[in-house]
Amino acid sequence: SQGNFVKLVEVGPRDGLQNEKKTISLATKIELIERLARTGVSTIEAGSFVSPKWVPQMANSSEIMQHLLRQKIQAPIPMTYSFLAPNIKGLQNAANILKKNPDTFSTQLEPSAGGEKPALEVAIFAAATESFSQKNLNCDIQTSLERFKAVIQDSKALGLRVRAYISVVLGCPFEGFDVDPHKVAEIATDLLESGADEISLGDTTGMGTAPRTSALLKCMATAGIRSEDIAMHFHDTYGQALVNTAVSLEHGIRTFDSSVGGLGGCPYSPGATGNVATENMVYFIETLGMDTGIDLDAMSDIGAWITEELGKANDSTVGKAVLGA
Ligand code: HMG
Ligand code: MG
Repeated sequence: SQGNFVKLVEVGPRDGLQNEKKTISLATKIELIERLARTGVSTIEAGSFVSPKWVPQMANSSEIMQHLLRQKIQAPIPMTYSFLAPNIKGLQNAANILKKNPDTFSTQLEPSAGGEKPALEVAIFAAATESFSQKNLNCDIQTSLERFKAVIQDSKALGLRVRAYISVVLGCPFEGFDVDPHKVAEIATDLLESGADEISLGDTTGMGTAPRTSALLKCMATAGIRSEDIAMHFHDTYGQALVNTAVSLEHGIRTFDSSVGGLGGCPYSPGATGNVATENMVYFIETLGMDTGIDLDAMSDIGAWITEELGKANDSTVGKAVLGA
């Protein structure tokens, strides 16, 4: 069985902002990341090297990466910044920034630098259904896996850790509840064999329920996939994210993705709302006697600030309660 520490991956600056229609300034994005880094969170998804035609809001991810490498943020623990890359073109755009800023980040090839310099991570994203793969990546699952193999190889050559998402694992906006957990396990196995360091299982639409989360994780275990290699990525559209988190903890999962203020949504998943709020996750995990290392008050302040900045309601019930709002 696993320990008492639960790692939260803060996806607000990427998943949280990617669906916003109004352009968010570079300064606001950087302030968000800087404030998050000071809360004790260890990993922040900071941007996305996707086509700006597909997701215009992420178009300045190069500038964000460059800023994070050049202006060292004072964080209480060593930071990892993660960036999405759907193909070699995206990885090359990221690699160009790295080449311009040598010796500013630690790598898996040079772990001794860890602590003083931030580590970088590349995140690829597959889908569990053919319809979602077409909508989100404009190709079928098999083609995406072949492309990811190349992205993983080149990322590893740069010394970067690779996280691999699988979307719509518990429901698909186009195919409904009819997502085969064996297919999810098969895709996860392929990505791990290609060299991915971690699989993040995305409940993109928030359609996951406790029994179906349990069935999926049983299927993953039967396929020989270790709970240490799995993260869960719950959107909270139906309010089931914390229940599904409890089930996942029982299955030994200790890494979860969440978004400050409950921001988020996928532009290619109609009707899907935000990720589970980080404030709610921190509170819930602490009530179980487990630890996230994250300062709940500081996180709640950030949730109130960023939702106000975006002109949105604060979707974190815990954040609002903590602030007495
Ligand atoms: P495509 O149109 O098939 O691409 O899109 P292409 O290879 O045919 O290229 C067309 C043009 O795009 C070319 O430019 C390329 O250079 C350019 P042109 O010659 O026309 O001037 N291009 C790029 N530009 C910048 N960066 C790139 C890139 N690639 C090609 N990386 C593509 C295929 C994969 C690019 C597109 O479908 C895409 O960008 N998709 C991303 C969609 C996305 O970002 N979705 C949200 C993130 S996933 C998510 O939110 C789910 C998650 O949270 C987990 C969950 O909740 O389940 C992770
Ligand atoms: Mg998501």
